Amino acid sequence: YYTAQVATSLRPGVYSDDEECPVVDWDKLGFGFMPTDYMYITKSCDVAGNFEKGQLNRYVNIQLSPSAGVLNYGQGLFEGTKAYRQDNGGLSLFRPRENAIRMQIGAERMCMPYPSTDQFVDAVKQTALANKRWIPPSGKGSLYIRPLLFGSGSILGLAPAPEYTFLVYACPVGNYFKEGTAPLNLYVDEDFHRASRGGAGGVKSITNYAPVLRAIRNARERGFSDVLYLDSVNKRYIEEVSSCNIFLVKGRLISTPIACGTILEGVTRKSIMDIAIDLGYQVEERLVEADELISADEVFCTGTAVGVAPVGSITYKGQRIDYKIKSELVCKKLYSTLVGIQKGHIEDKRDWIVDI
Ligand code: COI
Repeated sequence: YYTAQVATSLRPGVYSDDEECPVVDWDKLGFGFMPTDYMYITKSCDVAGNFEKGQLNRYVNIQLSPSAGVLNYGQGLFEGTKAYRQDNGGLSLFRPRENAIRMQIGAERMCMPYPSTDQFVDAVKQTALANKRWIPPSGKGSLYIRPLLFGSGSILGLAPAPEYTFLVYACPVGNYFKEGTAPLNLYVDEDFHRASRGGAGGVKSITNYAPVLRAIRNARERGFSDVLYLDSVNKRYIEEVSSCNIFLVKGRLISTPIACGTILEGVTRKSIMDIAIDLGYQVEERLVEADELISADEVFCTGTAVGVAPVGSITYKGQRIDYKIKSELVCKKLYSTLVGIQKGHIEDKRDWIVDI
């Protein structure tokens, strides 16, 4: 089914035959694609949707039928998680079980079978280890791991595909935005919406991403970093940014609510809320009117790819709101705690770190 090139799978337990350090300028890593050595792949093998024991293969193109469910009807989900090189030389993952569970919830929504939590985490670990020479040195970035689940079987009428593929690949990354660590300038686009009530905005469906490309392009052409979307019913409440969640600081930490099903429950978002509680901040999850943006002390974005990124300005209804970026920002404190846990400097009280 897959191309002949994929046949070069590895013996179990043998990960990388290529120990040399890759030729990458770690100081210039952005969020661009570069092929790494191996990917994990498996297919659903029965009508009940059980997945075969997967295997590591060389990273290669895969072959798909033109009538695959994912190509015709967008039946697909993706995840994003990261492997880090800790200061003590150890390698670790951050909360991969959360990604597994989020993929399972998304798969239920999209009528797809899904890998068990253990199979998902094992696949992520295997992919990270097989590509370990691509994990950047500590402080230079991370290995972004991209699990995919999609309808690879042929289907013509609108229905779930008869076969599914679960695949995990990886790529070393640095900062997501070209701004690097500089504050983001967001644009509230009132014409485009990312998600609607009853839609799939709350799960990581591939169909949530291409429709925002036009809004992102328009915003970038006007010098903005990304778009902040409003809810599609009232066009009044802020929801999230194309690639990340958003927080406001107004004395307390405020997050937009996942209960409406239009906001993705980010793993970084959840972690930042827990860290804030541990550090003694009050945390509120509620509807946030766009008109409130003007009275926020701080605004910042969170996401696996984005990390924690301060927002320097938001332009809404033609008015630019500027946020003072001070050294004692709440966002900085939360981020440095998160990074400290990920790097092993700060005690991991909640068992978030998975050593590999
Ligand atoms: C992530 O943060 O992992 C994402 O999937 C966002 C994506 C647009 C890069």
